[in-house]
Amino acid sequence: MQETVSPAKSIEGAITLPGDKSISHRYGMLGGIAEGVTTIHNYSTGADCQSTLGCMAALGAKVERVDGKVVIHGGKIHEPAAQLDAGNSGSTIRMLSGILAGQAFTSRIAGDESLARRPMDRVIRPLTGMGAHVEGASLEGRQGTFPPLTIRGGALHGIDYTLPVASAQVKSCVLFAGLFAKGNTVVRESIQTRDHTEIALREFGAEVEVQQRVITLTEGAQLTGRELVVPGDLSSAAFFLVAALLMPESNLVIHNVGLNPTRSALLDFLTSIGASIKVVDVKQSGGELIGSLRIRASKIAGGVIEGALTAGLIDEIPALAVLGAASSGGLVVRDAGELRVKETDRIATIESNLKRMGVEIESSPDGFRIPGGQKFHAAEVDSEGDHRIAMAFAVAALASDGPCTIAGAESAGVSFPEFFSTLREIAH
Ligand code: S3P
Repeated sequence: MQETVSPAKSIEGAITLPGDKSISHRYGMLGGIAEGVTTIHNYSTGADCQSTLGCMAALGAKVERVDGKVVIHGGKIHEPAAQLDAGNSGSTIRMLSGILAGQAFTSRIAGDESLARRPMDRVIRPLTGMGAHVEGASLEGRQGTFPPLTIRGGALHGIDYTLPVASAQVKSCVLFAGLFAKGNTVVRESIQTRDHTEIALREFGAEVEVQQRVITLTEGAQLTGRELVVPGDLSSAAFFLVAALLMPESNLVIHNVGLNPTRSALLDFLTSIGASIKVVDVKQSGGELIGSLRIRASKIAGGVIEGALTAGLIDEIPALAVLGAASSGGLVVRDAGELRVKETDRIATIESNLKRMGVEIESSPDGFRIPGGQKFHAAEVDSEGDHRIAMAFAVAALASDGPCTIAGAESAGVSFPEFFSTLREIAH
């Protein structure tokens, strides 16, 4: 499916966004294994998070939708009748593998064509170290192990694991396996990644201690169902933030977005390069910070994203690339090799689409450089099935000199099915 997006002058209005994708996955999985009832408000409407619920239902949790809420009757899970389907969702396959590794049954989990190309060694290694048997597939021309995964779970033991890549999915996988392990589980990270799992585990009743990026889960956790509210997704907000900053007459309010400090590097970075963003009405819910944002059109200076900042902004880089091209000083991204193994090779899909729009970019194995002060020209762009590429280039289209078509626009539904309808409401 393709969408046509025409140039706009302003982004105006007040919106709320569907629930955060990362937090929804965690609540969905933990709700499935926690004793009793978990009620989740504002659960993500994205297809990825429906894949997680589908997997939990296939594992025996009762999942209902009541008045817009997700209600999960969880507890002991059982062997699924068929292969589990993670769809396009790396979070589902990697995090759920931790839970599956702790069960006394064998399961198989797979996904779509994009997921079949995402590296799984990063979870296989620690799960094997904890005593599980995990097998995957090989891919011609690539090293490593890929989905489908066959997981023979069983008696696990705790592990003291240092993450070789900065990955919240791997951290979560190991901690979830630790719920079923004998002995404590320790995960060490050298770069801080999003900590929604640590927060959610505590909310559901587990004992989790965090000291200087060393996370310790105490053995024998008894999880019980909870009532929780998922904050709006800041990574989805990123597209509207960039759009509002770029369109000269913008004035946008986004209510109730997640402001967890391990996610809000986006706001600090944008502010540091000149963005006018006010954060108001900050409150806490389920251990997560929530607040509202007021964004006005701003002159953006451009900047450098590298080191720990790259990990903190990894999902927002497609949107920031668009902003970078229009900024005065341009954007340099380094240490972002992980972008090459996301839903698409995002360095390549950012590069090819910017070039289609007449925007100069120079890429390297782990990043790119986009000179500033560039104009977007009307073009046909292609998401290549990647939700964040579809949404980033819809924003570029707003800033271009004529209507643009976005092929594969439906992929936005992976995280944000309402993206194009919301954009139409606020773009003028
Ligand atoms: C996620 C972690 C990040 C991020 C992904 C969601 C999570 O991936 O890119 O969209 O929910 O834990 P990695 O853990 O692979 O860095």
